[in-house]
Amino acid sequence: MRGKLIVFEGIEGCGKTTQIRAIEGWLREKLGSDGLEIVVTREPGGTRLGQHLRELLLHCDEKALLSDRAELLLYAADRAEHVGGLLKPHLARGNMILCDRFTDSTVAYQGYGRGLDLGEIDALNRIATGGLEPDLTLWLDVPVEAGLNRVQVRGNGDRIERADLEFHRRVREGFAHLARTHPHRIVRVSGNADRDRVTRDIQTILTQYLIKWKIID
Ligand code: TMP
Repeated sequence: MRGKLIVFEGIEGCGKTTQIRAIEGWLREKLGSDGLEIVVTREPGGTRLGQHLRELLLHCDEKALLSDRAELLLYAADRAEHVGGLLKPHLARGNMILCDRFTDSTVAYQGYGRGLDLGEIDALNRIATGGLEPDLTLWLDVPVEAGLNRVQVRGNGDRIERADLEFHRRVREGFAHLARTHPHRIVRVSGNADRDRVTRDIQTILTQYLIKWKIID
């Protein structure tokens, strides 16, 4: 059986990374060790090349003036490498992948945030993924101010975290639009509750999907 690609999305400070860690542990316990491997990965940065691209994308010298289109193409390059080198081989082996960000982030950040053409972004996403789509996308929705506050508490943000409030508002609107357009694939989870409550909400949703996919009874 082909594996499953579960993607976590959301604005800065939405809590995805913490939740992925909690869900990874929970899934390992729930599914045991019979055959199915659980893989945790992220974009950008899920491959060796991706780690270099992540560094460039998030921490390049401000004076390097990375243009919006070049930024878009670097995210696409990271994705092409990630899909071909890691995601597809794991899915072919029947493994379950928890992926921190995927194509929806490009629509939300480069499309809604930067204002690049949404049709071109869809076409580029298809080239980068070869048509691979997530089996389930969990959108952790938090108010923009709450997310940015969490990021500030963590310290000096990266290149994108430092973008202005209006940019991040547009990104959130992008995720909201995507969730409305693809209700079969994207499930909104309120990330504004306390951490354990959010984990429990995600577990409830995932349990329904695991039953639907016939992974558990
Ligand atoms: P994060 O993985 O720590 O959330 O950081 C990744 C950053 O990259 C985040 O600011 C969102 C941004 N990003 C895009 O702008 N476009 C993309 O396609 C992806 C995958 C991430």
